[in-house]
Amino acid sequence: VDRYAVLGNPIAHSKSPAIHSAFAAQTGQRLSYERIEVPLDAFAARVGELIAAGYLGFNVTVPFKEQAFALAQRRTPRAQAAGAVNTLMPTSDGLLGDNTDGAGLVADLQRLGVQLAGARVLLLGAGGASRGVILPLREAGVARIAICNRTADKAQALAIEFGIAVQAAESTDTPYDVVINATSAGLAGALPPLPTGAVAVHTLAYDMLYGAQPTAFMQHCSGLGARVADGLGMLVGQAAESFALWRGVRPDAEPVLAQLRAAMK
Ligand code: ATR
Repeated sequence: VDRYAVLGNPIAHSKSPAIHSAFAAQTGQRLSYERIEVPLDAFAARVGELIAAGYLGFNVTVPFKEQAFALAQRRTPRAQAAGAVNTLMPTSDGLLGDNTDGAGLVADLQRLGVQLAGARVLLLGAGGASRGVILPLREAGVARIAICNRTADKAQALAIEFGIAVQAAESTDTPYDVVINATSAGLAGALPPLPTGAVAVHTLAYDMLYGAQPTAFMQHCSGLGARVADGLGMLVGQAAESFALWRGVRPDAEPVLAQLRAAMK
C-alpha cells in the first residue's frame, strides 16, 4: 500500500492521519498515513531513510518546516515565497518541496463566502505563519494586504520584501474585509495587536489557531460585531492541497471538516 506520513516533534496530537484517511476513503484511494516523531537533530537523515523505505510523500510540521525547505531539491513558487515547506514528495527530478498552508487558507476563506478579489486584508503577526500566506492571498486577487505586528521592525521587513503595506498597531480609519490572526499570542490566551477601527460588522475575523472553544481573538472580535472563524478549515484545506499534489485527485474538504468539528465537541 502507498505510504505517507506527517513528520514533527511533538506529533502525537496531529489530526493529519484522520484527515488523510478520510480523504482516501472519500476518493477511493488506497494509502496509509502515519504520524512519525522525528528526533530534533535527525530530520534529513530520517527523511532519507523513509524515502529509501518507499514512502511517497510527507507533511512536515513544527519545528521542521525550514529544514524541509533546505532539504528540498526543487521548490514550488509558493514554497519559495514562504521560506518553509509543509509538503515533500520524492520525484524522478529529486525531492520536491511545496507549501500548501496559504492555499488552505484561501480555500477556507472561499468556503466561508469571502470575496477575495478586491478585498482588503489585514495580517496580524510577522512570523512564518504570515509569510506563508502572503503570495497565495495576492494570487487570489486580494487588493490590499497590510501587516501589523507587536515588533514593528519585523512587519516592516516583510512589507518591504513582499511589497505590501504596514498597518500601525494603534488605529485605522478604514476597516478591513478580513483580519487574520497569524500570531501565536492565542496559545497563551493573549490577544494579538489589533488596531482600533480595523474590525467592523462586515469583517471576517479569522484565527489560524483552532480549538473546542473560540480563541481570545475570536471572542474579542465577536464582541465588536464581526463574523469569526477559527483555523480548523485551513488545516483541512492545506491537507487537501497536499493530497491533490500526491494523488492527482482533489478531495472535498467540507465533510471532513464537519467530521473533525463534531469530534472536537
Ligand atoms: P510562526 O512561525 O507561528 O509565525 P513565529 O515566527 O515565532 O511563529 O512568529 C510568532 C508571531 O506571533 C510573531 O509575529 C510574534 O510577534 P513578535 O514578532 O513581536 O514577536 C507574535 N506573537 C507571539 N506572541 C505574541 C503576543 N503575546 N502578543 C502579540 N504578538 C505575539
